[in-house]
Amino acid sequence: MIIASTRAELSAAREKLGAPLVLVPTMGALHDGHLALLRRARELAGPGGVVAASIFVNPLQFGPNEDLDRYPRTLEDDLAACEAEGVDLVFTPGVGDMYPQEQLVTVDPGAAGETFEGEFRPGFFRGVLTVVVKLFSLVRPDIAVFGQKDAQQLVLVRRMSADFGLGIEVEAVPTVRAADGLAMSSRNKYLSEQERVAAPALYRSLSAGAAAAGGGPRAVLDAAWRVLADEGALFTVDYLALADAQSYGPVRDDDDFHGPAVLAIAARIGSTRLIDNVVIEFGTERHAAGD
Ligand code: PAJ
Repeated sequence: MIIASTRAELSAAREKLGAPLVLVPTMGALHDGHLALLRRARELAGPGGVVAASIFVNPLQFGPNEDLDRYPRTLEDDLAACEAEGVDLVFTPGVGDMYPQEQLVTVDPGAAGETFEGEFRPGFFRGVLTVVVKLFSLVRPDIAVFGQKDAQQLVLVRRMSADFGLGIEVEAVPTVRAADGLAMSSRNKYLSEQERVAAPALYRSLSAGAAAAGGGPRAVLDAAWRVLADEGALFTVDYLALADAQSYGPVRDDDDFHGPAVLAIAARIGSTRLIDNVVIEFGTERHAAGD
């Protein structure tokens, strides 16, 4: 496994690598969710291809009052995990490699970057897309793998690649969860014991919503909110809402929406902010609740 910790080391390594090259961008503190992405990357690369991972905690996507300073950094363990997954190249740049000068030009995520996560984390998607396009141009992958866990990020990266003609295929991997349903996240490390016990209520809420899909958007949102009202006392909900899975435009509860949608939640529990989502297919047939 090659470890490139500067741009120069990356470009020297890049010249010698085969194709296709499949990139998994991460901020490290790797968990089973990240490992699922690395495994999918290995499959997509095939025996002759190359799997690359990047590990970089990107300051540009953190707000002034967010957790940049306390974000977990576990580089030694991360490198061991990459090695064990058969990763060929790990890019671990420093801030000075990614941002050698002030980033004057950034990627505008457009309207879909201002709703949901974008509403509660102003500038977040500008920071994400800017670092992702930079990683893309430095690593030059053929395929990049992203998690469904960050559904809005996935949609925006996909659209950025298509809208800018980057020619990079964006592949999605389903959310990996703990046995009790809690989506794996580097931020789960912040949870106290009591908060960790309460946290799976988010997924229970989403699952109840998904189970009500036959009744349409309003039934889904009602069912999801009911679970939170019953067992979500510890949470402050930023949003619990539906988005069009393709465009991430909002789906309102009175919309006659058909097709795939994302039921997404963001909630704070103590000082930790968690997000999760499930994909729901709204068919053409609608049933009233209880049908
Ligand atoms: P990070 O939070 O480290 O996540 C890296 C990738 O792992 C993302 O594509 C994310 O969706 C995926 N992932 C995280 N938890 C997952 C889970 N439980 N199941 C499946 N996939 C999961 O997302 C970022 O970093 C950054 O914004 C980044 C894209 C690297 C840009 O800085």
